[in-house]
Amino acid sequence: MNKYTVAVLMGGQSGEREVSLASGSMVLDALLSKGHRAYAVEITEQGLWWNRDHPFPENSTILESVANALKPRPDIVFVALHGPKGEDGTVQGLLEIAGIPYTGSGVLASALGMDKHRSRLIFKEHGLVVPPYILLEQEDSIEEKLEQAKGRFGLPLVIKPNDSGSSLMVAISSSLEQLESALEEILSISSKALIEKYLPGKEITVPLIGNDPPQPLPVIEIIPPGLFFDYQSKYDGSTKEICPARIKEEVASKAQEIAVVAFQALGCRGFARADMIYFEEEIYLLEINTIPGLTKESLLPKSARVAGFEFSDLIEKIVELGLISWNSKNDT
Ligand SMILES: Nc1ncnc2c1ncn2[C@@H]1O[C@H](COP(=O)(O)OP(=O)(O)O)[C@@H](O)[C@H]1O
Ligand SMILES: [Mg+2]
Repeated sequence: MNKYTVAVLMGGQSGEREVSLASGSMVLDALLSKGHRAYAVEITEQGLWWNRDHPFPENSTILESVANALKPRPDIVFVALHGPKGEDGTVQGLLEIAGIPYTGSGVLASALGMDKHRSRLIFKEHGLVVPPYILLEQEDSIEEKLEQAKGRFGLPLVIKPNDSGSSLMVAISSSLEQLESALEEILSISSKALIEKYLPGKEITVPLIGNDPPQPLPVIEIIPPGLFFDYQSKYDGSTKEICPARIKEEVASKAQEIAVVAFQALGCRGFARADMIYFEEEIYLLEINTIPGLTKESLLPKSARVAGFEFSDLIEKIVELGLISWNSKNDT
């Protein structure tokens, strides 16, 4: 493979900043170990782009810091950001305008992937099954919607922001009082929330790699220590992750098929991971993550290893897929 100049974007302003810094530094090491000219660009909590070798002058605007940080001019930007303003199409749009190739999904797929409600509308259109839920918007009465959800789905209920990741602010409870105050908190940072039927099944996730069509990787089974895969258990090593998942061959194939349909339905590129719950012989698609965690211990790299890709090969492959996607888009 050719050697490229790669700017690795990490950090950012979302609740998943720390996870991104961990992903980004491992991505950087992997690219350096393969002989690429890679350098880190950290997005600060204020949104400024920081390149250690070309620090931005005092009082720089964000746009000035962006121009300043992308030196030397990269052949491609590796977007190792998670959550809003990173995984949601906004950074991808900036790079499109700047004419700089980048890894992973484009503007539309990234934006859809970050919006659980809108991506589910598309998944349903493609015949995929998603958990039953009620959408809660700013102007709605939380109490009324909770009563409605209780009547339709019973208790406990799952609540989550429409547009976060890493299980941030996800809660499962049978106490309407608790759910109500948690929803108030969610709506103070997020424009919409989902109130969802609790599915006490087996949690599985399917990573994918490729452009169109993508290759589904082996299914991973997730066994969190508590009630669900919350923020802490995602990152403290307490969750059991079994790959390949201990499910029947036909269920695993079905899960992989669903992941491919979901990836193509949103128009994803490069890599992604589809989260699901297998409950009473049905596979429910929770969401697709367009930039899943990329540390060596993260789910996608783990599954890739089972399929025979070492971490640094996987990272290099994502770069290659980004360039292929960019070139084909700009040829037509
Ligand atoms: N309907 C549900 N039933 C049971 N557990 C759920 C449900 N929805 C989410 N969870 C739990 O919460 C976690 C995070 O939910 P998810 O929809 O994937 O949001 P996030 O974007 O924060 O990862 C899941 O990995 C799972 O453990
Ligand atoms: Mg998830």
